[in-house]
Amino acid sequence: MTTVLEAELPTQAATQCTLDNYLELPDASMDGRIAAARAKLGKQAIILGHHYQRDEVIRFADATGDSYKLSKIASQAVGKYILFCGVHFMAESADILAQPHQQVILPDLNAGCSMADMADISQVEACWDSLTAAGLTGAEAGGLIPLTYMNSTAAIKAFCGERGGLVCTSSNAAAAFRWAFARGQRILFLPDQHLGRNTAHALGLAPQEMVVWDPYQLQGGLTPERLRAARVILWKGHCSVHQRFLPEHVDLVRAKIPGVQVVVHPECRLEVCQKADVIGSTERIIRTIEEAPTGTSFAVGTEIHLVNRLGKRFAPLGKHVITLDDAGCLCTTMFRISPQHLAWALENLVEGTVVNRIRVSDDVKHWARVALDRMLEIRG
Ligand code: 13P
Ligand code: SF4
Repeated sequence: MTTVLEAELPTQAATQCTLDNYLELPDASMDGRIAAARAKLGKQAIILGHHYQRDEVIRFADATGDSYKLSKIASQAVGKYILFCGVHFMAESADILAQPHQQVILPDLNAGCSMADMADISQVEACWDSLTAAGLTGAEAGGLIPLTYMNSTAAIKAFCGERGGLVCTSSNAAAAFRWAFARGQRILFLPDQHLGRNTAHALGLAPQEMVVWDPYQLQGGLTPERLRAARVILWKGHCSVHQRFLPEHVDLVRAKIPGVQVVVHPECRLEVCQKADVIGSTERIIRTIEEAPTGTSFAVGTEIHLVNRLGKRFAPLGKHVITLDDAGCLCTTMFRISPQHLAWALENLVEGTVVNRIRVSDDVKHWARVALDRMLEIRG
């Protein structure tokens, strides 16, 4: 399967030196310029901001959300330009869901996702071939449904769509598993082993019903017997931000703050999630704190920009929010979207130049859209 067109290269080359000029300027000097360019574009543009985005950028977002909410907003957007202050896979998904006249812009093309990079389409195709050779993909085996987390390339979303599978986010992974199990005996879950394991565990599957496929080992490092016994085949991928949280962090914070509520993202390890009070997407984490009574303390296991913002927002309301581990970890790729990149993209648009457009090729788009539409149709 062919891959994705990254950007409009001639346009980018023509504007590159201008971007360098922006990058020399201080953050604060961008505020007025971003606001002015945004106002000039009016309803032609929408700025979407993921919850991990830094403060200096997210304050200009017309809508904020988790991956699921932002993909829904992108699918309903009316303006011509969707500026996605998130990471590459989110902008790709917006382009897949966008109408033909709309253009999606990622202010810095280097804003990728290390987890999404852990599953390459050629590795996934090789895995599928091995599973077919082991007799697991056909109707006789009860069917194998490929299911990918939103945090994956468009090519992998298309791979799943074409083989009767779908996409899920951290908000609707359980519903997606139920959807898949209604249609097949087994699930191949890409690329986050932790979200897959946490979801399967929550649905009552036993550890021995799950195996981890290591793309760097022959046959994934698994025997045919182990594969046949599995109901969920987890891809060996993870998020380096969330994998840092450990069960001992939960023990420590509970010892330090009696009554603390531990709220974690499902990209954390199973051992951490099992000790938590609430597991949920970024949107659910925010809602949990919003709905809690005054005086509640929270230790949150997710990206540090969101945690710090929640700390500041809820302190005046008598709610105490800290990071689950002392260090806190930032999503370095999300952080690449700076106010300078946003100002550069917006001011170019005002001049009629589209920079850093994210375009998914038509053949990939078709099946990726099928997989995303299946996700949007299931109840979360
Ligand atoms: P959410 O969908 O919960 O916002 O998560 C996206 C993500 O990348 C978490 O690492
Ligand atoms: Fe990817 Fe992890 Fe960053 Fe989320 S936090 S975008 S999974 S690297």
